[in-house]
Amino acid sequence: MLKQYVTTLAEYAKYWQFSPFECSRPDWNPTLVQYLVNLSEAEIEELAADSRLSLSCFSPWFPKLLVLPDIADEVADAAPPSYDIPFWLTNGIGGRKLAQIEALLAQLPTQPQRLMEWCAGKGHLGRLLSFTYQHSVCSVEWQPALCEAGQRLAQQHQLPQHFIQADVLQHGLDEQWAQVDGAVALHACGDLHLQLLRAGAEHQVQNLYVAPCCYHLIKADTYAGLSAYGQQLLRLHFMYAGRALTRADLKLAVQEQVTAGARVARLRQQEVQWRLAYQQLYQIVSGQLHYRPLPSVSKHWFSGEFEEFVQWAAQYHGIVLPPHIDIERWLAHGETARLQVARLDLVRHLFRRPLEAMLVLDRATFLAEHGYQVQISEFCNYHLTPRNFLISACRA
Ligand SMILES: C[S@@+](CC[C@H](N)C(=O)[O-])C[C@H]1O[C@@H](n2cnc3c(N)ncnc32)[C@H](O)[C@@H]1O
Repeated sequence: MLKQYVTTLAEYAKYWQFSPFECSRPDWNPTLVQYLVNLSEAEIEELAADSRLSLSCFSPWFPKLLVLPDIADEVADAAPPSYDIPFWLTNGIGGRKLAQIEALLAQLPTQPQRLMEWCAGKGHLGRLLSFTYQHSVCSVEWQPALCEAGQRLAQQHQLPQHFIQADVLQHGLDEQWAQVDGAVALHACGDLHLQLLRAGAEHQVQNLYVAPCCYHLIKADTYAGLSAYGQQLLRLHFMYAGRALTRADLKLAVQEQVTAGARVARLRQQEVQWRLAYQQLYQIVSGQLHYRPLPSVSKHWFSGEFEEFVQWAAQYHGIVLPPHIDIERWLAHGETARLQVARLDLVRHLFRRPLEAMLVLDRATFLAEHGYQVQISEFCNYHLTPRNFLISACRA
């Protein structure tokens, strides 16, 4: 399955491995380009909001996407289970996070075990695990304040959970590994969950449960794969083809906005329009044709005045703007460019889930190579969190 994902993603690489902000005329199938040009703004929005519809509309150009097998052996019920956890144990956990934790609990072993909770934050998951199933939990977290807050809560409720303050990328945690039967991580980012898989396999821990997220948050400039088989496939189909997977490429896997409300979505559209309008102004004023990014900034910039944003951006880039700027004209250019980006994104976004599936399969393959029986499931509904893959592994 991993090979099918890698070869399909490689075959269509020019349709997703690029930055739409920097690409105005992609070298794509002309009938696809024409189809995109003909889409109205309403049609673009409809397709952007419905990934199934989008996949079926674009399937004539990407038939191999349709035949990719599901990687999840199990898909959680739409309604997450409810555990009747008393409110005093869940105080301070956001509603969505609590529902994610409850959905994850349903996938974890119910017989009491000694578990390590990786990158625990305040250890909400560990606390509910030790309350619900009487697991004894060692929560590892880097920030001292979170460890202290989590430890206080565990003591207050007399739960068998204790915290270790450690940087998991530096600290071997040998003593802790020797004392646990398994480890669990909910939404540990890139290198953090990769480190868990490496360390867990090295210490031959019995069980591993990992819900990965933020695949792009890795120190390396490019992603070479985790499993030996994945590394071989990525070398052959990406690196040797001169298109090694960069962090920016990996970021595509986490670009859904299923949790954004209408107001946030509108503000995001305005942000893209303003940034692209400024980009064109920048090119005219500076004579530089290449795309020059601006850093992410507080959202308040985009609910203020366009002119103020432009002045800030020009100052940031060290260029002097003409005394009079035709705001309406530049905003119109920005809007045209935004719709162009939205058209290209419709195609790029077809590859978000396949890319994530490929990265999850690579992790699962790594564990299989290290003697684990591995299962991939979707532990909760996609709308609760799009990062809903769970890798469960047990030493054979
Ligand atoms: C995205 S949060 C997830 C927290 C929790 N598992 C949850 O789902 O709510 C990631 C956590 O990892 C911690 N973290 C980041 N880098 C770390 C490191 N090098 N070692 C240990 N913990 C780290 C952060 O402080 C943060 O609490």
